[in-house]
Amino acid sequence: NRSNMFKVAVVGGEGIGPEVTAQSHRVLKWFAANRGVPVTMREAQYGIIPYLATGKVLPEDTVEAMEEADAILWGATGGPETKEVPPAARKAGSLLSMRRKYDLYANLRPIVASPALADSAPLKAEVLRGVDFVIIRELTSGIYFGEPRGIETLADGQRRGFNTEQYTTNQIRRVARAAFELARTRKGKVCSVDKANVLETSVLWREEVIALHKQEFSDVELNHLYVDNAAMQIVREPRQFDVMVTGNIFGDILSDCAAMASGSLGMLPSASLGPVDKFGRRKALYEPVHGSAPDIAGKGIANPLGSILSVAMMLRLTLDRPDDADLLEKAVDTALANGARTADIAEAGATRLSTEQMGDAVLSALEKVA
Ligand code: NAI
Ligand code: MG
Repeated sequence: NRSNMFKVAVVGGEGIGPEVTAQSHRVLKWFAANRGVPVTMREAQYGIIPYLATGKVLPEDTVEAMEEADAILWGATGGPETKEVPPAARKAGSLLSMRRKYDLYANLRPIVASPALADSAPLKAEVLRGVDFVIIRELTSGIYFGEPRGIETLADGQRRGFNTEQYTTNQIRRVARAAFELARTRKGKVCSVDKANVLETSVLWREEVIALHKQEFSDVELNHLYVDNAAMQIVREPRQFDVMVTGNIFGDILSDCAAMASGSLGMLPSASLGPVDKFGRRKALYEPVHGSAPDIAGKGIANPLGSILSVAMMLRLTLDRPDDADLLEKAVDTALANGARTADIAEAGATRLSTEQMGDAVLSALEKVA
């Protein structure tokens, strides 16, 4: 039944984006072919290649593919060749503009410390044991978008830069709701992070989170941390967290900090979710946390696991296939436990797999665990 098919747009983008996305695309095809996951995939281009052909980094065909999609599997944007694209053309099709267009307000970044990588991680193995939490960062408001903003020259000749942090009740409630709902499917704990001792936006944030909790989610355990303390706790005892929810700028910083609990930037997946429509569907974009990595682009050595684990998030959050999501995560663990390593996670002297060989390792683990 075609109407029950989910549509996925596959957009590799630039730098290592197409390299890692080729592997996650293979994995998604495997689930369609071997597990009956009802999904159709449409590949589309983004970046310098379509720019040279059409004058647009985001050509019509790609816009159309993304428009009709339930989920977008995204690679990365950015790179040295960017210089050839005028800033206006780039801005017109930027990732930021797409997050806004589709109102992708809830950015989920799972932080899982893989046991196989604990010894090579920057934090101590005993601190990392059992770490498994998700940071939900509000992605479409806050200081990155607030008006007024600018740089002005004062009467005395000094310059003054200014930005505006702002949140409305609805913006707070919808992302808090996403956190409470996610916690219900996990360990039932939400930690809300703010700076309510100093900022009015944070005072409102905390009041609204508390009110929503009381009204609809009193079964979920809720606590609050100031952002400075949260940064310390992530490094001191990351195991204490289940779901952490916070605003745009705090989430940006805390999630990079938390990334160090999981081994390598190349391992980390993410999901960005939009509002639920009247048919119960929500637009979602899945992408690895890393960027286009121009320093290693074109060499076929990038770690595709962040992109592959983004497919696991897609299976869970868009395709409603939690068992298949578990299966894929298990296959990644199995591949790592068997010693599969790309250069970024390899210890000295260990064999380094190419991007494609890591894809092979995950697919053969899938054949075995399925
Ligand atoms: P980056 O994430 O691209 O790279 C940082 C470092 O991590 C580099 O040394 C890189 O080689 C390494 N790395 C990243 N992903 C890896 C992988 N999968 N396997 C192995 N090593 C990996 O961040 P950077 O260098 O700050 O930014 C490069 C470009 O990417 C910039 O133009 C930036 O704007 C863009 N960017 C795009 C993002 C996106 O598309 N969502 C996110 C972050 C950056
Ligand atoms: Mg960041």
